[in-house]
Amino acid sequence: PAPGWAVEADVVVVGSGVAGLTAALRCSAAGLRTVVVTKARLDAGSTRWAQGGVAAALGEGDTPEQHLDDTLVAGAGVCDEPAVRTLVTEGPGAVRRLMATGAEFDRNADGEIALTREGGHHRNRIVHAGGDATGAEISRALVEAIRERGVRTVEHALVLDLLTDAAGRTAGVTLHVMGEGQHDGVGAVHAPAVVLATGGMGQVFSATTNPAVSTGDGVALALRAGAEVSDLEFVQFHPTVLFLGSDSQGQQPLVSEAVRGEGAHLVDADGVRFMVGQHELAELAPRDIVAKGITRRMLEQGARNMYLDARHFGADMWEHRFPTILAACRAHGIDPVTEPIPIAPAAHYASGGVRTDLHGRTTVPGLYACGEVACTGVHGANRLASNSLLEGLVFAERIADDIVASGPHREGVPAVHRVPTVMPLLEPSARAEIQRIMSGYAGVLRSEESLRKASAALEDLARDPVVRHPDLTAGPGTESWETTNLLHVSRALVTAALRREETRGCHWREDFPERDDEKWRRHLIVHMCGEEL
Ligand code: SIN
Repeated sequence: PAPGWAVEADVVVVGSGVAGLTAALRCSAAGLRTVVVTKARLDAGSTRWAQGGVAAALGEGDTPEQHLDDTLVAGAGVCDEPAVRTLVTEGPGAVRRLMATGAEFDRNADGEIALTREGGHHRNRIVHAGGDATGAEISRALVEAIRERGVRTVEHALVLDLLTDAAGRTAGVTLHVMGEGQHDGVGAVHAPAVVLATGGMGQVFSATTNPAVSTGDGVALALRAGAEVSDLEFVQFHPTVLFLGSDSQGQQPLVSEAVRGEGAHLVDADGVRFMVGQHELAELAPRDIVAKGITRRMLEQGARNMYLDARHFGADMWEHRFPTILAACRAHGIDPVTEPIPIAPAAHYASGGVRTDLHGRTTVPGLYACGEVACTGVHGANRLASNSLLEGLVFAERIADDIVASGPHREGVPAVHRVPTVMPLLEPSARAEIQRIMSGYAGVLRSEESLRKASAALEDLARDPVVRHPDLTAGPGTESWETTNLLHVSRALVTAALRREETRGCHWREDFPERDDEKWRRHLIVHMCGEEL
């Protein structure tokens, strides 16, 4: 699209969760002209919804080495150890700097930071806020800091594509801005450094813990820009999402792992604790193992959900430790103080994403990625609980430092050589169909047969008459861009899932039930249109 307006900057950060705002604050503090663009409001992304917390080796007797071990075990042999080592050693400092920025975490009676436990952790190392509203506190603190620093922000701006210069270097991004009195229509931010911090892609599935904005925009942009994307097959399904009926769609309320960390039990309809005996940590096994345990039991019993029983917490503990979850359950007519909570797994986190090095650099010069959109290598085949906010913090700081160190920054407008080809866009009505295909054939349990069905149905959609070439003077709606992004990331995900003929971490193939370290202890890199290396 031909930009109707343009802004000049040294760095444009796309997204306003923990990763984006941390990168923006640090770039701005170093004197760089920094612009944050975000698709809705500054606090609308996934960060605000995070419950459990941030994992960091801050407790007595805990060490980064132990955090590293737990992370590598959860990642099932596909983590990049140098990336994990960076995460766990820089993590405690990054959490302290977040506190210095203004985030306030819960403390115990001695005034020490209170630490809880979640699945896969052998230590209490999860920092939390407001009981179960950690992300909301982090978001509040970072948004306030951004406003105090006067960092320029453009809200309600959906990123479209990467701009590059004659040498193939990043030159900025194009945007579709949705009114609200700022700049209507298509615009651009010209900048030699672009930081993608657009979050996840949970909306490719019918039921997810992700908010409506998580439509894979950053991964889709990166695919179109020719950047490497990897590990997309590793979609994490959170084991305990409030079950509101099989036909319930979109964002579903999360019941944090911290509830199990504080002693809740997973039971079937007969009250049997089915995780006991399946893993030494029972309900606190790594997330993929618990999600599989639940799914297996549901299949065995022909049930649509299992239950989380935490009645023994009592009303006082529920009200003080888990006020958000208590309110969400009660809003749906369930009282966890007197009855078990119906739960089922739902799509939660993309462990893969845009491939980066230890400085957050992608394979396109000048394009960086951090947070859920990125694949730094720390999560491998299954992210350890509460490592995601930490990853956003640590790698956002590293990106800012790299951008600052890579100066001097170009003066004026970079010569924009290539504006990406406009592709056919999907009608917004195709979104529900993509979600149906992905949940039906590429969800928790996959096989060659189901994935081929997904692939064929997605190809049909791409050829379907609902696809149209937009009249760019009128401008397609943002829903069309989002739906098109969902299609692009779904096709890439299904390609990777078909290719990985083994079961590993959160990729569960019923036709290849074993892990195969000989052939598959590696990353799968996907390019645009499903081409795979
Ligand atoms: C939770 O609170 O269970 C979510 C934590 C996470 O996804 O890391």
